[in-house]
Amino acid sequence: MDNYSLSYPGKIIFGNGERRQLPSLLPAGAVLVICGRHSRKRIADELLPLLNGRKTELLSDINPEVPISDVIRACDAARRICASAVIGWGGGSAIDCAKAVAALAPCDGNAADYFYGRKKISSKGLFFAALPTTAGTGAEVSGNAVICDPETDIKQSLRGVGMVADLAIVDPELTFNCPPRVTAASGMDALTQGLESLISKKADTVSSALALQAVKRLFFHLEDACRNIPAAREAVAEGSMLAGMAFSSSGLGAVHGIGHPLGSICHIPHGECCALLLPVILKWNRSVCREKLDAIAAELGLADGDALISAITALNGRLGIPANARSYGLSAEKFDFIVRNSRSGSMKCNPRDLSDADIIKILEELQ
Ligand SMILES: [Fe+2]
Repeated sequence: MDNYSLSYPGKIIFGNGERRQLPSLLPAGAVLVICGRHSRKRIADELLPLLNGRKTELLSDINPEVPISDVIRACDAARRICASAVIGWGGGSAIDCAKAVAALAPCDGNAADYFYGRKKISSKGLFFAALPTTAGTGAEVSGNAVICDPETDIKQSLRGVGMVADLAIVDPELTFNCPPRVTAASGMDALTQGLESLISKKADTVSSALALQAVKRLFFHLEDACRNIPAAREAVAEGSMLAGMAFSSSGLGAVHGIGHPLGSICHIPHGECCALLLPVILKWNRSVCREKLDAIAAELGLADGDALISAITALNGRLGIPANARSYGLSAEKFDFIVRNSRSGSMKCNPRDLSDADIIKILEELQ
């Protein structure tokens, strides 16, 4: 039997239209809303009129791959209005920024102190609600916030006590207008998270059950979601949420370990980075998790793990994901930075231990 410890949002609500429950589930007091640019109008039309009488502030200019400076700016806004709740409504960046702000606004010092581990988040922050408008990161159910320091190109997770959302509302309708390229990249992030969770060294009974359901939904429905078919959007939104719940417990693997420094130094969107790395890393992992990959393949109606890896490469092609990282400017002089910054918690969960020389070979395969 596995030993495991599960940590999920206080309340998770899934389904079309469920975003309308949000106002009634917030605590009293001022509200800071951090959203993606495309969500601003919907929030102004649908949410703000229902927060009547409360002090509210809406920040819709958070940059992708969340720079620390945006977290500091949003923390200042939360403190200025004495927010009791922070809402993250958008893609992974808006949600991760809001998650970091809810945790850090009551803390003393600067966000950079916590990002670089000079200080620790030791108590529960402000009430935090997450509503994803892309289906991919699982940020609405995970307890880490991925932040970037553009001055050092370091991209890593901020973690701390009580960072899991108090409330996650996964309303597939919010993803219905997501552009095809973003849908494809986010969905491949979620598929990667499901597969890495299944073969993680820390996989457990619950994470494996959730991850398998996630992988099935994402593998079979992602292409139709990119064509904006509502039933496929719903399946992919649910798959993304399930993958997020799975990896919260099991951790991830080398795709995420290498993907973060690769993405930050070459400026590759996270989902595309995952899609590029996934078949290459699965091939590397194949020798140590042959039975697991064969079993996952069988669940998807494929002959074996090799057929699964080929199917992922073919899916990337149909989704318009580039076949390699050359077009993003990956060159040998960036290898050292990527290797040095790849030894994260995700890397420790990878089923095969990778040496620095192995990582360089993987990067050469991506060129
Ligand atoms: Fe990811």
